[in-house]
Amino acid sequence: MPKLNENYLQLKDSYLFAEIAHRTAAYTEKNPDKPVIRLGIGDVTRPLCECALKALHEGVDAMASTDTFKGYGPEQGYAETRNAIAGYYKRNGIDVDPAAIFISDGAKSDTGNITELFGEGNVILIPDPVYPVYVDSNTMFGNKVTYISGNAENDFLPMPDHSQHVDVIYICSPNNPTGACYNKQQLKEWVDYALENEAVILFDSAYEAFIADPELPRSIYAIEGAKKCAIEFCSLSKTAGFTGTRCGYTVVPKELVFQSSTGVEMSLNAMWNRRQSTKYNGTSYIVQHGAAAVFSEEGIRECQENLEYYKKNAAVIADTLTELGIRFYGGKHSPYIWFECPNGMDSWTCFDYLLENIQVVGTPGAGFGENGKNYFRLTSFGTYENTVEAMRRFKTLF
Ligand code: MLT
Repeated sequence: MPKLNENYLQLKDSYLFAEIAHRTAAYTEKNPDKPVIRLGIGDVTRPLCECALKALHEGVDAMASTDTFKGYGPEQGYAETRNAIAGYYKRNGIDVDPAAIFISDGAKSDTGNITELFGEGNVILIPDPVYPVYVDSNTMFGNKVTYISGNAENDFLPMPDHSQHVDVIYICSPNNPTGACYNKQQLKEWVDYALENEAVILFDSAYEAFIADPELPRSIYAIEGAKKCAIEFCSLSKTAGFTGTRCGYTVVPKELVFQSSTGVEMSLNAMWNRRQSTKYNGTSYIVQHGAAAVFSEEGIRECQENLEYYKKNAAVIADTLTELGIRFYGGKHSPYIWFECPNGMDSWTCFDYLLENIQVVGTPGAGFGENGKNYFRLTSFGTYENTVEAMRRFKTLF
């Protein structure tokens, strides 16, 4: 009999969004006449932009002829895509070496897989509430997690505790689920703290494209010293509507070098390269060609139009909650609105209450951590019509 990874026994039965999908499907099966509006998982509804579509078609056409056909590609990604992403950083005033950029199928896989680079016994700091993949993937490895509390008092932007030593720090900004976004001084404090502790920051910037204020940092590398202490994960899922097309990227600067227990220098860039070349055969050429087009001037402009559409939805939700006197966060530099459950409900009770009474599906805050147990998340990624209808239904209830 094989010995199994019993760390899995420590996980909740199902992944948050699988549980929501399951409960929603059970409700729809029982109530086929009651149309449900899904504002739960952050899945986009706008079609891909013209630039990306054209390039995806070109990618398919390339496969049709021997001189342009592509077989296995570089595990790290095609130069075209890595250069396009480096150009996108440059546009935002940040220098990133294309050799530090690894193309993947999305930030979820990379934020989960990165745990492989770290050994046992690290102090791993994870904000609560936050994207559940960080905690679940550490639990799968048997890692113990230390939580740092995001709450109404700190506007869901926890800051380092300088009296505590840490080795690995997860930060998601703009934050999923709260929509809170660190400013440059706050991120600088995190970078300085990481450098003091010789720690690594795992920075998830999947929602950077939603930042409306040019003063807010869209990348950890906007902060001096970050290349010596931070890995950044980003994705085209929300920026360019690639949730189904699948493409992300991870930046592992060559400056990230630490000593092994025996004093050997180990480069995280070389380790990630080794890991990816062993376990990943690269994102498909077709998708990468489409992704490169997203970062052209035209692509950025077209994607921005889609983001404006979602921001309009966020404003509809925000206006409704304001009118109803429900306290909320986010929605400004983020597609998510994080609100306090009305009438003292806990978040799963609120989930059932909304589903049963007005057939609106959201995400219970408890799924993002203990501090989310009285909060609820709505996404602005639905259609405008559905968002307006969901908010009309809200007004009948609260
Ligand atoms: C979310 O709803 O939190 C995200 O869509 C999940 C993901 O990106 O995997």
